[in-house]
Amino acid sequence: MCGIVAYIGKKEASPIIMEGLKRLEYRGYDSAGISIYNGDVKTYKKQGKVLELEKLIEGKDLSGSMGIGHTRWATHGRPNDVNAHPHVSNNGEIVLIHNGIIENYASLKSALQELGYTFESETDTEVLVNLIEEVQKSKGLLIEEATRQALNMVVGAYAIVLFDSKDPEKIVGAKNSSPLVCGVGESEMFLASDATPIVKYTDKVIYIEEDEIITINKNGSYSIVNLDNEVSANPIKHIDLKLETIEKAGFEHYMLKEIYQQPITIAESMRGRINAAEGWARLGGMDQYTKRIKQAERIILTACGTSWHAALIAEYLFEELARIPTEVEYASEFRYRNPIIRQDDFIIALSQSGETADTLAAIKLAKQKGALIYGIVNVVGSSIARETHAGSYTHAGPEIGVASTKAFTSQLTVLSLMAIILGYERGVITQGYYRQLLTELESIPRKVEKILQNDDHIKYIASEIKDANNSLYLGRGYNFPIALEGALKLKEISYIHAEGYPAAEMKHGPIALIDMHMPIVVIATNKRNYEKVVSNIEEVKARKGIIIAIVSEGDTEIKKLADFAIEIPNVEDPLTPLLSVIPLQMLAYHIAVMRGCNVDQPRNLAKSVTVE
Ligand code: G6P
Repeated sequence: MCGIVAYIGKKEASPIIMEGLKRLEYRGYDSAGISIYNGDVKTYKKQGKVLELEKLIEGKDLSGSMGIGHTRWATHGRPNDVNAHPHVSNNGEIVLIHNGIIENYASLKSALQELGYTFESETDTEVLVNLIEEVQKSKGLLIEEATRQALNMVVGAYAIVLFDSKDPEKIVGAKNSSPLVCGVGESEMFLASDATPIVKYTDKVIYIEEDEIITINKNGSYSIVNLDNEVSANPIKHIDLKLETIEKAGFEHYMLKEIYQQPITIAESMRGRINAAEGWARLGGMDQYTKRIKQAERIILTACGTSWHAALIAEYLFEELARIPTEVEYASEFRYRNPIIRQDDFIIALSQSGETADTLAAIKLAKQKGALIYGIVNVVGSSIARETHAGSYTHAGPEIGVASTKAFTSQLTVLSLMAIILGYERGVITQGYYRQLLTELESIPRKVEKILQNDDHIKYIASEIKDANNSLYLGRGYNFPIALEGALKLKEISYIHAEGYPAAEMKHGPIALIDMHMPIVVIATNKRNYEKVVSNIEEVKARKGIIIAIVSEGDTEIKKLADFAIEIPNVEDPLTPLLSVIPLQMLAYHIAVMRGCNVDQPRNLAKSVTVE
């Protein structure tokens, strides 16, 4: 969601900013813009992809060593050229980009209109830049102080970056809920929504914390204060983000690369945490709180999107293997329903990006109520990772495709490990079963590789069902959340309407939709309830639905009934989701490509949802 990039230094700013905007494309956006200062300010903005902006600036003089760039995901006002950022204040001097929502923008706008300010766009951002101008003008302040005072009048979530053309040796940034990171180079400074536009130039970063305002200067110096004007001394950190990990590496799409990386990323999620031969498993993040976690009366998992599906699987895992009552809740609902949270609750927040606004707000709420908060997060140093008491990184590496794949299986790996550890330590599972599960977990990467070898077969199935308008995904037990995830993958990237259901619930509604045009994906690998799934398939066949069955190797019965079958290797039930999701990711990918969809950046979606 909205990408921010800014540069000040000695180099030409526009190529760095344009390249940065391309790196931020994965976040999801619908327009892009750039402002460069060189004696005066030149601003160009365009609806559509960064490519459109590139065409617009072709042949234009954009020389200058200071500038800001933005990719906008529309909140206030349609995605068009006028609403695109940067926005310039009425006196033409202050130029600003913004990620987030200014909730009290309407009252601020009326007040500014009474003072004679006019507005070209429908955005809350244009209100903010004029508010800063007004505070600066009326009090004769430097831009950083005017920004601080203006932000004290604002309610909402934001990351902003701005400069004042009267004072062009500096750029100001500020953060509240939306992410902002500063890159510290050799006589050059950067600000960005994440480190991807920065890593080519420096591995030194400063994370801007809540309610902080940073000023970066042309000479490479910087200063940080908070909204109360207290000086902050945020440490410089080194990030280990290699450029090649954010490139496509010969794959046609990031999503395909990420699907194929899973044997490695799953292994990375386990590295140093498990040794089946020696019979141990350990999550370092749990060490400090082992006793509290083991004695937890209840686990509450909170997340959004695909991460929420991982949480649903964890509910099965924790209840079956560790016998701890577990609840799962959408972060957006959790935060607003005054939940009962007790001191002995153990809260787990799941997030790939570590920046999802609702998940972040949910954990802040739970923290206030005294619960122990554990983060399972992919992006190192992200807001959720910093906000939790303890946690485990999933170590899947950067995920660029909007539709989450490898981050999901890495979350499942960490959650499986956690449930196995807790189950053993609480005396619920025997040492024999504990070792068996560890051995099976270690074998997952090899088994995923085997599924990936089925690509041609899955592509063929995709070609047979690619023209469907609707589809249904059915699963039971551990495979019910996988049905939800399979359906989500398909609708996100191919725009085919897809719904996931617990297989038995089909009779309570979705069965009405089934006809000869309807593909129904049945995840039928569970050893438990096998006969019941067979009955569900018979019910679909009786209504002429097209069955695509995900079955275990050696299956004969369901294979006979299904129109198409995809085999996956055998594994203990609790670990099945790590395998059964893979063919569903591949199916969605191929269908989307065949339908000519933009697989990596599906319409309207954002990778990192930093507004509510
Ligand atoms: C967005 C993304 C999804 C993701 C969800 C939660 O909707 O498009 O892929 O699952 O946010 O994101 P998180 O980073 O918190 O896992």
